[in-house]
Amino acid sequence: MLTVDIIAGARPNFMKIAPIVHAIDADQSSIEYRLIHTGQHYDAKMSGDFFTQLGIPEPHYNLGAGSGSQAEQTGAIMRGYEQVLQTKPSDLCLVVGDVTSTMACAIVAKKAGIDVAHVEAGIRSGDRTMPEEINRLVTDAITDYFFTTSAKANESLRTAGIDDSAIFFVGNTMIDTLLKNIDRLRKPDFFDEQSLISGNYIVITLHRPANVDKPENLATMLNAIAESANGLPVIFPVHPRTRKNLEQLPQLPECIHVVDPQPYLQFIYLVKNAKAVLTDSGGITEETTVLGVPCMTLRDSTERPETVTMGTNELIGTSVSNIPPAMQRLLAGQWKSGQVPPKWDGKTGARIVEILKQLQVASQTRTNAA
Ligand code: UD1
Repeated sequence: MLTVDIIAGARPNFMKIAPIVHAIDADQSSIEYRLIHTGQHYDAKMSGDFFTQLGIPEPHYNLGAGSGSQAEQTGAIMRGYEQVLQTKPSDLCLVVGDVTSTMACAIVAKKAGIDVAHVEAGIRSGDRTMPEEINRLVTDAITDYFFTTSAKANESLRTAGIDDSAIFFVGNTMIDTLLKNIDRLRKPDFFDEQSLISGNYIVITLHRPANVDKPENLATMLNAIAESANGLPVIFPVHPRTRKNLEQLPQLPECIHVVDPQPYLQFIYLVKNAKAVLTDSGGITEETTVLGVPCMTLRDSTERPETVTMGTNELIGTSVSNIPPAMQRLLAGQWKSGQVPPKWDGKTGARIVEILKQLQVASQTRTNAA
């Protein structure tokens, strides 16, 4: 029996682990898992609602790491996970994505002699000012099994000297979750209250430090979006990090409707029915690509270039002067339509489990040799 620790810590992790957990449960074979929630995100709106809606079981461990600086959070997660492994080791640590929990648990496992599998390995923005890019680089430097979402990720790993035998091009678990839930999306309560009309409103999400940590930058960006939206309502589900800075702004443009962070089924409902999404998230650009919804990324780089070359996403950048011309093209009906990248087909969780069943991990090799 292979015991796999599945690590989840922050909101974007939850939709990535759900299909893996479900595929292991469905397989009922040689794998058992321990679900480890690091506690990086802890509010119901950032965490618990996702477990409930996506049918993810209660975690076996909650490390209760909570908020803090990058180092405080990393340290708390590392201490918590080390204690778990000291009490009862596992055979494999499976981490997903690029959040602090991903990197912290990968380091702890590897130092304890436990192999690491990284789901969404190999993607790179090239922007080392982003904490996520550091998390990707560090995690992949010590990963043993690389599960990838794109040809570009495979190429980056090969260029970094990773042997082909360790790279598994499996597709995108976040898209498994999207396709599985597409027929059970939920209209948010405020949709009718605010008289929103499908195809006739914009969704924005902003939480990157570069965009939101200086209230004056946030204000300039929101004003530019509001002015170019041509009267369309702009729905802004606000991440806790952004809310703190938003509260310092004197007044928001009238068309901007601030709402709480949305549970998964409500958020995807909003995105699916939007005219367009403006975001600084990476994961959302994958969802808009599959949903065929126009997307503007308010960043200067992306670690998911296939959403631009194949999908509906365009890199608009962080300069607000780029927003009006892009909005004009959108409103004139001139936005590109896109294609879905290979293997983003809803079957990635099952592919990962098939591969996990065949791995010869370090702990087993040690046991066999003893
Ligand atoms: C993290 C991830 C980011 C991801 C984002 C999605 C890292 C480095 N960043 O950023 O990649 O896109 O999550 O949401 O891992 N807070 C709460 N309640 C919570 C969680 C956080 O109020 O449940 C507050 C914290 O007090 C903190 C702020 O939100 O002030 C930021 O949280 P943090 O986990 O540090 O990073 P995120 O910005 O959420």
